[in-house]
Amino acid sequence: YPVESIRNFSIIAHVDHGKSTLADRLLEITGTISKTDHNKQVLDKLQVERERGITVKAQSASLFYNHEGINYLLSLIDTPGHVDFSYEVSRSLSACQGVILVVDANEGIQAQTVANFYLAFEAQLSIIPVINKIDLKNADPERVEKQIEKLFDIPTDECIRISAKQGTNVEKVLQKVIEKIPPPQCNTADPLKALVFDSTFDHYRGVVANIALFGGEIAKGHKIVSAHTKKRYEVNEVGILTPNEQPTHKLYAGQVGYLIAGMKEVTEAQIGDTLFLYKQPVEPLPGFKSVKPMVFAGMYPVDQTEYNNLKSALERLTLNDSSVTVHRDSSLALGAGWRLGFLGLLHMEVFNQRLEQEYNMSVILTAPTVPYKAVLSSAKLIKEYGKDQITIINPAQFPDKLSVSEYLEPIVLGTIVTPHEYIGKIITLCQDRRAVQKDLLYIDENRVMLKYLFPLNEIVVDFYDALKSLSSGYARDKAYAAGKLLCEHLKETIPRQLFEIAIQAAIGKKIIARETLKPYRKNVVAKCYGGDITRRMKLLRRQAEGKRLMRKIGNVEVPRDAFIRVLKRE
Ligand code: GTP
Repeated sequence: YPVESIRNFSIIAHVDHGKSTLADRLLEITGTISKTDHNKQVLDKLQVERERGITVKAQSASLFYNHEGINYLLSLIDTPGHVDFSYEVSRSLSACQGVILVVDANEGIQAQTVANFYLAFEAQLSIIPVINKIDLKNADPERVEKQIEKLFDIPTDECIRISAKQGTNVEKVLQKVIEKIPPPQCNTADPLKALVFDSTFDHYRGVVANIALFGGEIAKGHKIVSAHTKKRYEVNEVGILTPNEQPTHKLYAGQVGYLIAGMKEVTEAQIGDTLFLYKQPVEPLPGFKSVKPMVFAGMYPVDQTEYNNLKSALERLTLNDSSVTVHRDSSLALGAGWRLGFLGLLHMEVFNQRLEQEYNMSVILTAPTVPYKAVLSSAKLIKEYGKDQITIINPAQFPDKLSVSEYLEPIVLGTIVTPHEYIGKIITLCQDRRAVQKDLLYIDENRVMLKYLFPLNEIVVDFYDALKSLSSGYARDKAYAAGKLLCEHLKETIPRQLFEIAIQAAIGKKIIARETLKPYRKNVVAKCYGGDITRRMKLLRRQAEGKRLMRKIGNVEVPRDAFIRVLKRE
């Protein structure tokens, strides 16, 4: 394939707007996969991804397509569909020359449509706007076209209206990819320059790195160097993804494929790294960043005897995901464990789910926190740390306030798209969360886009729920259900006492759920068989009185097990 007949592109969209469905259709049309139900969403490989219906790990595929007598090699580079993975998205996009921007014909432009658009726009990619789900009853493609024109300055007639589900107009999208997206600008005669845009770990073959060639060629036996780690490797295998790995003799400039070269951990093939030939160093491709975890949580085995098993499960799982950081930690209540760092809350949940599903581990995760920086003012501490600024990933390790001149916290730029009737409430919510408004724009008569700078700590856990609740009452319902569940768990795990225990869940002062743990009734009348009714009444009265007193002063020891179950939110 000469470079002119290569197209490298990606599909970007807000969650659920149909990215994976469109990808599957493209794979089918080009005969890359057969049209059977078993192949549904082949690009979403991991079990958790299928269950959650979100893309966590990017999967790419090369398609062969003949158009007007010319054979094209089209590489579809899948991107993760969640903000937690925006660095991965930006690196995947840098392997492309264009994107298909998918917008739901019913929902219209949403927050991630905007965020993804700007990632593609800043990378100077050609953008093909596609309006999906036109088969839906409430589809309003015209309105969405106007939004796209207003917000992204793309003429309405450039949008392609499709139904990825039914296949309507999907072929047109492929033709547009060929017409509008330029071939990569590079040369096989140049020295090798390969971008690592994703990497996975295979227990048998080690690291499989997904690469895009910006120059030169690569084949088995070549000696290569990582620009980031400076480590040297010999290439064992190269090939293309269809989307399964298919070995080829060589990969050439402009092509996208995979490489196996005896790398043992994913940290050796970090996303954004550049590979070049030994003795032919090149300028590394721009944009490399070491990923920084932004959400931290403690992880403990439910049972301390499981410590070693959990340790080895963690080691194996982190081989696969270099963006998780692990530090040993311990807690009085929970024993020995770790403090883990994740890219975001979803990343944390997915990691936890994989531990449970793939390694059969049952763990306790503590409430997530964000990293803070402390600018030290105490000479003693500065000497102790060897620097005047430290990062704190564990709230238990905050330095003494008197030795700190300033605390710094992570700030994120958030985009909110909302029907305009909720605007007042949303602004209040954002202000409550210490956010600073950056932008407010009507994208059509009744939809508004807001941009805010948020302290990450204020939004990391429940902001999305709070936002949803403003429009749907969703969070309150959730709180009732969660409160009820908590009370039920406590009721099951706290042993009964001689007195009645009310177990209540509250939001502020408002009680939202209650369970009653009935007392044991000591059979005080057992010994007065015979029929003295007044004596029996007296005894029972006294018992009741005693209980009333105890209710006021009773102490309940909450068993560790109850504590764990509550933390686990089982
Ligand atoms: P993420 O991977 O989470 O980013 O989601 P996605 O954008 O890949 O969305 P996906 O392809 O999983 O589609 C989301 C839902 O929309 C699924 O239930 C699809 O069946 C449905 N869907 C996708 N395309 C169409 C369409 O053209 N018409 C209709 N009616 N439904 C569609």
